[in-house]
Amino acid sequence: MSHPHHDADWLTRYERSLMGVFGTPQQLLQTGAGAWVTDAEGRQLLDMLGGIAVNALGHGHRRIVEAITEQAAALGHISNLFTSEPQIRLAEQLLQLCRAPEGSTVFFANSGSEANEAALKAVLKHRSATGRQRILALENSFHGRTLGALSLTHKPAYREPFGPLVPGIEFLPPNDLDALEEVFAADDVAGIFLEPIQGEAGVLPLTDQYLLRARELTRRHQALMVLDEVQTGVGRTGDWFRHQALGQGFLPDLMTLAKGLGSGFPIGALVAFGPDAGCMLQAGQHGTTFGGNPLAAVAAETTLAVIEEEDLLTNAARRGRQITAGLQRQPQLGEIRCFGLHIGIDLAEEVAGPEPAKELVTIARQRHGLIINATGPRTLRLAPPLNITADEVDAFLDRFTSTLAELTR
Ligand SMILES: Cc1ncc(COP(=O)(O)O)c(C=O)c1O
Repeated sequence: MSHPHHDADWLTRYERSLMGVFGTPQQLLQTGAGAWVTDAEGRQLLDMLGGIAVNALGHGHRRIVEAITEQAAALGHISNLFTSEPQIRLAEQLLQLCRAPEGSTVFFANSGSEANEAALKAVLKHRSATGRQRILALENSFHGRTLGALSLTHKPAYREPFGPLVPGIEFLPPNDLDALEEVFAADDVAGIFLEPIQGEAGVLPLTDQYLLRARELTRRHQALMVLDEVQTGVGRTGDWFRHQALGQGFLPDLMTLAKGLGSGFPIGALVAFGPDAGCMLQAGQHGTTFGGNPLAAVAAETTLAVIEEEDLLTNAARRGRQITAGLQRQPQLGEIRCFGLHIGIDLAEEVAGPEPAKELVTIARQRHGLIINATGPRTLRLAPPLNITADEVDAFLDRFTSTLAELTR
């Protein structure tokens, strides 16, 4: 039950004190454990969104809490004038999981946008060095809100209020091989930014054929291929990184990570593959105060260790299949795009209303204790913790079925 008086209290305080960029927050949450969160009234909600693909190990994972607590007591922050064992270990661990060749390096940032800023600076340097002028991204892309990342983000509503952004960036239609061939034919591309699966657009995958062709063309024309795995990386799709589904030999030049990497602790990373990309940004050409500090590094190191020890890649794939199988029986649903626990769900055409997905999100939360997300008027997204259990998925399916039944009434 919600208590209007109490609700008005926190909401009024929020609106009086916080910048309104996120709209109205849905609820005030107080605690979390695993796949569950509890609000200020003690009501439990099943979190099928995981802080938008961030809480890889769920809420309050014992190992993360212990690692951060111990590290905070030992050495919380130093500057990047120094280094720490956790930072070095994390970089080594990431390079190994990426199957990165000799000469590959990592830069730690604090978010996905910042990881993409670093990648864009590498591409801009390559542009200056080679004279190749064009930088490519895709329609429907989302790479972040800082100015460089925003320049790579397609959505006009996000870009337009801010006037001219980084010049020279062009947007191609996703999965359009002809458009890709045509733009490379001019032999003037410095780099291309791709999300292997476009998350904010509604979990829309690039085809293997498109990614493979982009790799061939970037190699042939000395352009950098940047994969934004901020949402798809760190086990979300059932592989460590989505591009690994294309086979052992497939590597981009640059890859960006964030979201699930710290399982809730803010950390981003740029991985540069091979000696050329690995030394592209040189001393003094980039930096950060917080990036890769010991606290963030142990959070990420522990996240990777737990994913490995608890075999959460397999769990992500299994639970994803369980969700798809359960959803396929629902007549109100159209296409379901499931890649491990990175899941987009379209509503069937017969479902009426201007924004039924938004309505569903509200019904799910208010009446069925379920957190899900709408990426568009008719598309839902799920990104639960990678360690969600089979029973919790059953609980989701029950609650979601009840939610759908209310929508069509
Ligand atoms: C693919 C992708 N890239 C970049 C970002 C931006 O990351 P952050 O919000 O951590 O800056 C996001 C966030 O949703 C994302 O999904």
